[in-house]
Amino acid sequence: MTVPLISLRGVTKVYGSGATQFQALKGVDLDITGGDFVAVMGPSGSGKSTTMNILGCLDMPSAGEFTFRGHHIETLDRDQRALLRRKYLGFVFQGFNLLSRTSALENVELPLLYRGEDKRSRRELGMAALDKVGLADWWDHTPAELSGGQQQRVAIARAIVTSPDVLLADEPTGNLDSERSVEIMQLLTTLNRDSGITVLMVTHEPDMAAFARTVVHFKDGLVERIEAQHRQGEAVEESPSRLREGLGVGLSPTTSSDTGGQAHPQPSSGSAVPPAQPEQRGTLFTPNSQAGGE
Ligand SMILES: Nc1ncnc2c1ncn2[C@@H]1O[C@H](COP(=O)(O)OP(=O)(O)O)[C@@H](O)[C@H]1O
Ligand SMILES: [Mg+2]
Repeated sequence: MTVPLISLRGVTKVYGSGATQFQALKGVDLDITGGDFVAVMGPSGSGKSTTMNILGCLDMPSAGEFTFRGHHIETLDRDQRALLRRKYLGFVFQGFNLLSRTSALENVELPLLYRGEDKRSRRELGMAALDKVGLADWWDHTPAELSGGQQQRVAIARAIVTSPDVLLADEPTGNLDSERSVEIMQLLTTLNRDSGITVLMVTHEPDMAAFARTVVHFKDGLVERIEAQHRQGEAVEESPSRLREGLGVGLSPTTSSDTGGQAHPQPSSGSAVPPAQPEQRGTLFTPNSQAGGE
């Protein structure tokens, strides 16, 4: 059994203190295998965003273990977590969060600016990322000149421009109509399949979750159950070579009509059976890498 890319053990999160104290997470156990496409579902207030913020190193658990590639993240300081975010993680939010007076390309280049890339390489990588989301021709347009779907694609380009291992998306289609939502899901599916990027996505909509291979259901601050799903043209158990070769053909998910949307329920052991991918081991940071501020 390989080390999961991401692992949570007994993770709790308590907000506030005293009378206003609230326990948002009550002991979450979850393993995410590299290369998986995970949809996180559950009622409002069940702890989905709290979990995403912890996985994204934007917030810390109150207690419990959080490992990334076998490294204990709960022991890292603020700067090290910032470095980890910049090196390995990409974020997409419901509200796009683009700079409004800034062109699509400049928005996409921003993480590269933080990383200290020179202008020429920012342009090249930025344009390549815009090309991947189908917006190369729109590079000089500001968000106001783009549709909601296009803005979210710019946000996705910004998230992937640093070639992260993991893309974290909290309700990425929450502000989009269903047609635009499906386009975003097809894009995420393509990125997951072709680049091997691990996708973790919160969604309320079963139609969007149908694009994922693994669905994690939250309830009352706990993982209630985990299911593995078929996607069109793919077996539930993926071999590493199959994943690398990108043989999964269809973009559209299997319909849930024949399974009631609950294909192949898994025992809720906190461990799904996602596609296997060789785990990259070793250190998270090079010895001389600097943890600069944000
Ligand atoms: N910063 C915060 N301070 C206090 N309570 C919070 C904070 N963030 C979230 N909560 C509470 O924690 C619970 C879980 O929130 P959240 O993880 O955002 O749920 P979900 O994303 O599943 O809707 C909710 O009851 C919410 O009100
Ligand atoms: Mg939320």
